[in-house]
Amino acid sequence: MENNDNRSLMTLEQAIAIAATDVQAKEWIHEFASPFKKLMSYYKCAMMEVETKFRVLNENFSISNDSNHIESIRTRLKSPESIIEKMVRNSFPLTVESIKENMHDVAGVRVICSFVSDIYMLADALLKQDDVVLLERKDYIANPKNNGYRSLHLIIEIPIFLENEKKMMKVEVQLRTLAMDTWASLEHKLRYKKDVEMTQQMSDELYQCSAVCAELDKRMELLNREIEGDA
Ligand code: GTP
Ligand code: MG
Repeated sequence: MENNDNRSLMTLEQAIAIAATDVQAKEWIHEFASPFKKLMSYYKCAMMEVETKFRVLNENFSISNDSNHIESIRTRLKSPESIIEKMVRNSFPLTVESIKENMHDVAGVRVICSFVSDIYMLADALLKQDDVVLLERKDYIANPKNNGYRSLHLIIEIPIFLENEKKMMKVEVQLRTLAMDTWASLEHKLRYKKDVEMTQQMSDELYQCSAVCAELDKRMELLNREIEGDA
């Protein structure tokens, strides 16, 4: 991990050093760098806001229901390299305004829930809040992807309050169970294994694994309801 980070930093520095020899590139970097850093810090603030909203909800539910609904929360800010790669791949203009307009996953919050019902309960509780605007909802649990991927995705917009202004920022929220998260992490790892093309048989096996995870979630949900006494 550390090595990769160092390597990408070196590459970026080298690229900037080379580009800076060109006067036009130098001007572009100067004009782009400072607003870009600002934008990234706004995304970081929005990510923190959303994480706090989930922590508050979890605290609140844990008092009223005497149980936690969230296993863990992970946040990530997309790297400048990934942002630029995605902007170029989609032929979006490489400006700060265009990043704000066209990218919806610069700030990402992943919420790992105990049971499938917790996912919907938490999503509903978040979307009920009057400062949260829903831009897009993809339910890959009700409608799993062909490869077996399951999660609930929300693109929301929330305000962040700065010294003299309020800014609306987009955040991608992914809600999944532990089983869905295990499958997604391993599928991602296998998909990007070097030099090995995924065969149909391998894809079928991965799909079967996702069905096992879904079955596990279903059985654990039923068990939980039985224990809670509302089966
Ligand atoms: P992106 O260009 O990747 O943002 O796709 P999209 O805008 O169509 O969004 P989508 O909601 O389908 O997926 C967004 C994110 O969900 C991805 O960046 C992954 O983190 C996750 N994801 C979606 N599909 C898969 C999948 O098949 N496997 C795994 N492991 N993760 C997935
Ligand atoms: Mg996305």
